[in-house]
Amino acid sequence: MPSGATDPILLTDLAGLSLRNPVVLAAGTAGYLDEFQDVVDLGKVGAVVGKSITRLPREGHETWRIIESDAGMLNAVGLANMGVEAWQKELAPTIKSRADAIGLLPIGSVSGFSIEDYLAVAEAMNRIEALGAVEINVSCPNVHTGTSFGESPEMLRDLIGALRSTLTSTRMIVKLSPLVFGPMLDVARAAIEGRGSPAGPNFRPGADILCISNTIPAMAIDVESRKPRLSNTTGGLSGPALHPVAVRLVHMVHKEVAKPAGVPIIGLGGVMRWEHAAEFILAGATAVGMGTSLFVDPKSPTKVAKGLAAWATRQRVSNIRELVGGLHA
Ligand SMILES: Cc1cc2nc3c(=O)[nH]c(=O)nc-3n(C[C@H](O)[C@H](O)[C@H](O)COP(=O)(O)O)c2cc1C
Repeated sequence: MPSGATDPILLTDLAGLSLRNPVVLAAGTAGYLDEFQDVVDLGKVGAVVGKSITRLPREGHETWRIIESDAGMLNAVGLANMGVEAWQKELAPTIKSRADAIGLLPIGSVSGFSIEDYLAVAEAMNRIEALGAVEINVSCPNVHTGTSFGESPEMLRDLIGALRSTLTSTRMIVKLSPLVFGPMLDVARAAIEGRGSPAGPNFRPGADILCISNTIPAMAIDVESRKPRLSNTTGGLSGPALHPVAVRLVHMVHKEVAKPAGVPIIGLGGVMRWEHAAEFILAGATAVGMGTSLFVDPKSPTKVAKGLAAWATRQRVSNIRELVGGLHA
């Protein structure tokens, strides 16, 4: 576990990964690793998921690619990133020392458009021991085919099966979309089961951890110019409006699929205050992601961790894990 002050009531375990508290900074909202350390106290969060990396470098979409709306934030960044080659050369060799310097637990993130794309990045990340886990983004609504794998249980099984044989020395998180209404449970099952062949005795056949969820496809219009407000026309909605949607999905997937399989969930979507994080935990999340709230108040992750500790004390538990899935239905 990373060093740094922690409250024992918040210590948690995510598929064998020790976290000082359940708060995880979400992919794409906290830079590649430690760039936000001047504004966010990275030594006080449980873990940080880096920006999604693709096989080739990407400029992303043009301005405007992030806008505010009454419901939260809309983004169509378009997976702008340095690409795996530069990541391997420039970032990977320094991950351990930079993460250790601030007591940060780093998690990698992979995006792609084909199985080969995902494998190329996963293979590079699998070699970096300092990464606690690698998150597979199968749910980006802002690029063509970005959600294809996350919408089809059969395609997802193929992808996860292939990735499992590549991710042999790190945990795999599969990040799902909130918009697979019909087959959500089938998609979650496919993520957990893959093609059924574990890479080794210590591994599951598929995801070790699920992350629920990514953003909701959405759109905003400037009524004077009569043009879309985002250069990409549509984007992903995050923040407050996503929260109750994601809470329901975490509840449903935890109860029907993840709990019986023993797979922990990271609840993600619209956590602005500790109460939102507590809702996710009661619905069945072991850890809780935060993204949009960093843009509003970079101190919010620390405040959420504090609020969770006080809540757990009031609930008279000795550790926050006792509250996971503790909803009185
Ligand atoms: C500006 C921005 C960039 C994002 N980039 C990524 C990304 O690269 N990979 C990814 O898996 N999710 C990405 N996301 C989605 C977030 O990780 C998260 O799933 C979503 O914002 C919901 O959480 P929130 O309501 O706390 O922001 C991005 C979100 C935002 C707002």
